[in-house]
Amino acid sequence: MSDRPEGPGQDGAEDGTAWSGRAGAQAFAAVDAETDWLLGYPFVFRALSRRIGTGQVLVDYGCGPGKVADQAARRLGARVLGVDTSPEMLALARGSATAVDGFHLVEDGRVTDLPDGCADAVMCNHVLASLPTREALLGVFSEIRRLVRPGALFVLLTTDPACSGTEYASLRIGDPGEVYGPGDELTVRLRRTDGSWQEMPNHAWPVGLLPALLERAGFRAASQHRPTVAEALTVADPDFAAGRPWSAERARPPLVITTASAA
Ligand SMILES: C[S@@+](CC[C@H](N)C(=O)[O-])C[C@H]1O[C@@H](n2cnc3c(N)ncnc32)[C@H](O)[C@@H]1O
Repeated sequence: MSDRPEGPGQDGAEDGTAWSGRAGAQAFAAVDAETDWLLGYPFVFRALSRRIGTGQVLVDYGCGPGKVADQAARRLGARVLGVDTSPEMLALARGSATAVDGFHLVEDGRVTDLPDGCADAVMCNHVLASLPTREALLGVFSEIRRLVRPGALFVLLTTDPACSGTEYASLRIGDPGEVYGPGDELTVRLRRTDGSWQEMPNHAWPVGLLPALLERAGFRAASQHRPTVAEALTVADPDFAAGRPWSAERARPPLVITTASAA
């Protein structure tokens, strides 16, 4: 990584919360997320495609600027609803994610205007790293449990803080040699589409904690999968996956997908 990244608060968090405010929304919308489009989102879509079909309701919890929600709607044929705590993120998403059926603000931990049991599945991608405490994680999982019908699938995409310091194509989690415990602050660096790097303060959530927290929130049968580059060659866009060496991603894949069903 050659460019010196801009620090938190320069054009990222406005109030200390990752990606908040207009500047935070614009900063996240400018990242390219190549590592995620290799080892993350395609595997989220594959897990969802095994359980939901055309017209079923999929909530994207923490949808941000809506790119992933939009792709999910197009690829799965599902009726996708995007929800987020940030009105600025939702404004960006409304302007560009045209395949998404609707957007809802999360206020005081509750999604406005979505009734209990309305969703057939929920995906939640890269949201946990914004949350500072286990209670906050449990609050999000409990609200997601409220939204889904019994038996519904929940797919969670997270970075593994144990992969700290490795320089991936579009991502670095924390600093080299550091070991992060639950909730510890770390800095994530994300590459922008113009090749420069964005820094953002985040929180470390070791992936092994997640199944027990999901069970406490009313989910069962949690399982975890760490997608590899070899798998991505058949799951992600083949030209994209074959188009670069992905040396760091091959050596130490940094993304983990946790799936669980609503009890
Ligand atoms: C790193 S962005 C990820 C956006 C999108 N899921 C993606 O993968 O491109 C994290 C998003 O989670 C939202 N967020 C943070 N805390 C949240 C919460 N408690 N409930 C819902 N959304 C939240 C932020 O506003 C932000 O849009």
